[in-house]
This record gives sequence, structure tokens and C-alpha cells, in this order.
Amino acid sequence: MSADDWKRQAAEQALIHVRSGMKLGLGTGSTAAKFVQLLGEKVRDGLDVVCVPTSEATRAQAASLGIKLATLDDHPLLDLTVDGADEIDEELRLIKGGGGALLREKIVAVASNRVIIIADHSKRVDTLGAFALPIEVVPFGLKSTLGLISDMAADAGCTGSMTLRKGAGTQPFISDNGNYILDCAFGNIDDPESLEDALKLIPGVVESGLFIGIADLAIIAGPMGIEVLSSEDSEFELDV
Ligand code: 5RP
Repeated sequence: MSADDWKRQAAEQALIHVRSGMKLGLGTGSTAAKFVQLLGEKVRDGLDVVCVPTSEATRAQAASLGIKLATLDDHPLLDLTVDGADEIDEELRLIKGGGGALLREKIVAVASNRVIIIADHSKRVDTLGAFALPIEVVPFGLKSTLGLISDMAADAGCTGSMTLRKGAGTQPFISDNGNYILDCAFGNIDDPESLEDALKLIPGVVESGLFIGIADLAIIAGPMGIEVLSSEDSEFELDV
């Protein structure tokens, strides 16, 4: 089996938690796209859900499958969001933003009653940080913001190179919100909570890709089967 098959397996398991009448958040990335594909098939068979996408890419995919779409302003509270991740640790802390959609992903996840993360086993880590942490920043004052991130991250025990993500050609990548993304190669992030607290104090930082205390359930598929991680206060029934 390939990573693609495991992503699909995880997506299939997440679909079990979807019921007609739900308001859903749809994540971004190749794993979330598997879920959207499967959801589209269920919608074609009569499942009645309304969905808020976390990116223009997901919006386009869902629309092409005939999935009913809305905005978070139409439905400020969602029943369930299903999304992927770049890294997942034992405590269900995540790094997200590899696809550059971290801000909308975090807004939609926090507006959701439940959040399921789906992934193949390569995303499961003991310590976050091998994947460079994406941080969304406003273009104005970039150099000042870089300096502050470097100082504040060092105070939180994290040092490493910070790279402005490139889009087409040599141009910076621009997020759906018109911002830049810095990919911060900090290596092991031993205290993600302290780093997240520090980053929040920097005016030019819009959002970091650290998702802490947000996911309720992670469904991780791999050669050994399916691993399910559940947060302590999750009310999910573990039927996978
Ligand atoms: C996008 C994300 C994605 O969920 C993350 O990058 C995982 O993507 P993939 O499923 O393609 O590995 O956070 O901003």
C-alpha cells in the first residue's frame, strides 16, 4: 500500500463520523482532498451536509463535486471539521500549514464542535519540529517581524533558519488572506505551548502553524493498521 492508500483509509474512517444535517469544515491538502472526494460521493448518494472550506483550492474541489458550500459567517459554529496535518504528536499537538492554509484552517477548526485530523503514518512524530513550522505574517514590516520571531522563539528554546516561502518563480507565496508564510526550521520544539504564547505577542504574526488543544481525534493509517489518538476531553466514540 502507498501513502495515498493510507490517506484514503484515514479519510474513510473520518467519514463514519459524518451525519446528514451536519455543518462541516473542510481542510486543505492532499489528505483532506481524499476526504472531500469521498464526501462528494456520499453527497451524490443523498447525504445532506453544508460545508465551509478552509482554502480556495478546497472550495473549488468541493464545488466541482456538488457539495453545498457556505461561509463561516453563514454558519459561525460548525459540527465537525476534518483536516490533515504535517506533524502530530502523542498529545495531539500539530504542525499545520504545509499547504499555506493555516490561518483559515485554525479559524474553522476553533469554530467547530469537533475536529478530526486524518493522516498517513509519516505524520506521527515523538517531538514536533522536524517539519519547518509555517508562520503566517503580514508583508508590512517583514524584517522587523523576522527579528522579533527570532528573538522570541529563542527565548522559548527554538533557534533555526527562517525562510520566506516562495510561490511561482521567485515571487513570495501569498496566502488566501494576502499574507506571507515563513517556514521556520527550529528542529525539536520541546515546549510548543511556550513558543505559541511567544509568537502570539508579535504584531506582525498573523498565526502560527502550531495547533495545540484543537484536535479531538487523530486517525493515522499506516502499514501497522490504524492508530487513533483521542484528546482527554473528547466525547467521540472510538468506532474505528
Ligand atoms: C495545509 C495543511 C495540510 O493539512 C498539511 O499540509 C497536510 O497536507 P497533506 O495532507 O497534503 O500532507 O496544513 O495548510
